[in-house]
Amino acid sequence: MVAESPSRVEPAQPNVPKHIAIIMDGNGRWAQRKHLPRTAGHHAGERNIHRILRACVDRGVEMLTVYAFSTENWGRPQPEVNALMALFEDASERETRNLHKNGVKVCHVGTMYGVSPQLQRSIQKAVETTRHNTRITLNVAFNYGGRAEIVDAIKRIVADGVTPDEIDESLISRYLYTATLPDPDLVIRTAGEMRLSNFLIWQAAYSEYYSTPTLWPDFSKDDLDAAIESYAARHRKFGKL
Ligand code: FPP
Repeated sequence: MVAESPSRVEPAQPNVPKHIAIIMDGNGRWAQRKHLPRTAGHHAGERNIHRILRACVDRGVEMLTVYAFSTENWGRPQPEVNALMALFEDASERETRNLHKNGVKVCHVGTMYGVSPQLQRSIQKAVETTRHNTRITLNVAFNYGGRAEIVDAIKRIVADGVTPDEIDESLISRYLYTATLPDPDLVIRTAGEMRLSNFLIWQAAYSEYYSTPTLWPDFSKDDLDAAIESYAARHRKFGKL
């Protein structure tokens, strides 16, 4: 996971995004090109999270959010869904200690609806164990869908008896799964597609967007640097001049 000996953490550089969110696409194509089963691509993708997380620490990025499983992914063939669930469970059991030792705070972004009780426990354990860590935050968007998140927020707003006058953008943000998290500065999508796929659709309203043809398991530190460099050269206007 993150480097064993504390690597020198530079304070966030002015043009380094504080929060990077990644749509990790292309695991299946990566496996296919190597004549491997699709699940081998997901395993390689999981390993790559560690490499990129470490690189983020070294570059002063404070938060990394990865899109690991969308609510739509339940619609994949059952053997692939089962393999992904097994991978999430294995990874959270295997990596929690390591992440904790390396000062990584893990957060879950999404819902537990439909998730096995055992996997729910593993996720809760990872979140609970690492909650006071401050070196970097790793948000795992798992069983996440942007529209479902907004629907859930509206239901809770109504259930709480919030009046129309009280509703503004900041109130809605507080009702999302990401309530306490800052919006992403940069959203990276691998494997070349040019869409958000229901990922952080509220939170990424003003994020910079970067797409690369590189498949996620091959996305390297150099690719990360290219994305950060592209971000650093942009002028964020947030709708103003
Ligand atoms: C999209 O690639 C990727 C996914 C749906 C799964 C991503 C999951 C991981 C990288 C593992 C994460 C693990 C943990 C523990 C957080 P795709 O399969 O749609 O690729 P394709 O478009 O080439 O078929």
